[in-house]
Amino acid sequence: MMTPLEGKTALITGASRGIGKAVALALAEKGVNIAVNYLQNEDAAKKCAEEVRTRGVRADIFQCNVGDLDALPALIDNILKTFGSIDILIHNAALGAFKAVHKLKMNQYDLSMSINTRAFLGLVQKVLPGMEAKKEGTILAISSLGSHRFIPNYGAIGISKAALEAMIRYLAVELMPKGIRVNGVSGGLVDTDALRAFPFFEIFKQEVVKRTPAGRVATPEDLARVVAFLCSPESSWIVGQTVIADGGLSLI
Ligand SMILES: NC(=O)c1ccc[n+]([C@@H]2O[C@H](COP(=O)([O-])OP(=O)(O)OC[C@H]3O[C@@H](n4cnc5c(N)ncnc54)[C@H](OP(=O)(O)O)[C@@H]3O)[C@@H](O)[C@H]2O)c1
Repeated sequence: MMTPLEGKTALITGASRGIGKAVALALAEKGVNIAVNYLQNEDAAKKCAEEVRTRGVRADIFQCNVGDLDALPALIDNILKTFGSIDILIHNAALGAFKAVHKLKMNQYDLSMSINTRAFLGLVQKVLPGMEAKKEGTILAISSLGSHRFIPNYGAIGISKAALEAMIRYLAVELMPKGIRVNGVSGGLVDTDALRAFPFFEIFKQEVVKRTPAGRVATPEDLARVVAFLCSPESSWIVGQTVIADGGLSLI
């Protein structure tokens, strides 16, 4: 039996590792072809694409620094040449310096805004013509609790995620009448390479585990399942929301 997402194509930014890779595999399970975007880790991107193909769908890798707006047209053109359409856009890639906000250099501030936030707008603008022509599409971005809570040394990313969540709300209202649904997924601490880059990550992780009602940090799959749900028609009435999946951490 066909699943509702079968035969669709998703572009996932930063899909070589972590949450992006888990999202690629979760969508592949639902029959979605995957464009695996990555920055520099070609081996990991190839491995992700191989794993995706074992789910019986198509996958290919596309190197691109999505923070570079001039590189986006070629990225989108290459994906369209390979797959024919982009039905689902998931902006997951993120970078940022870990330090106090008042000590940030302006180029560090600009880096997280350009990759985490501005790239989302650039990508949306590039995939829109195809989605508008089909009168349907799904757009998602990955955020984090640092968008609205203080996390030590996380300000550069937190500020960019706050802007990202606002962008999700604006785009959702503008695009839903065109049949294009925009949402976000946010999490607390997820066990990925990014987490291990965090200063004093073991101490931080233990603290978060203590404060999380579910008693552990998240796995990439915990977030990927929510992303897959938000891509499916079962979630059609959810519009412009950034859904928090954090094991209850943010309630305390
Ligand atoms: N980990 C957490 O605790 C956590 C919690 C909540 C939300 N999030 C969010 O979840 C998302 C994924 O995080 P993660 O922990 O899975 O990250 P990760 O393990 O560090 O992986 C980052 C991914 O993004 C790619 N990437 C980085 N900069 C890029 C750029 N400029 N252009 C294209 N690709 C780029 C990397 O590619 P390469 O492999 O080529 O370097 C990699 O695939 C982020 O938006 C993050 O803010 C993470």
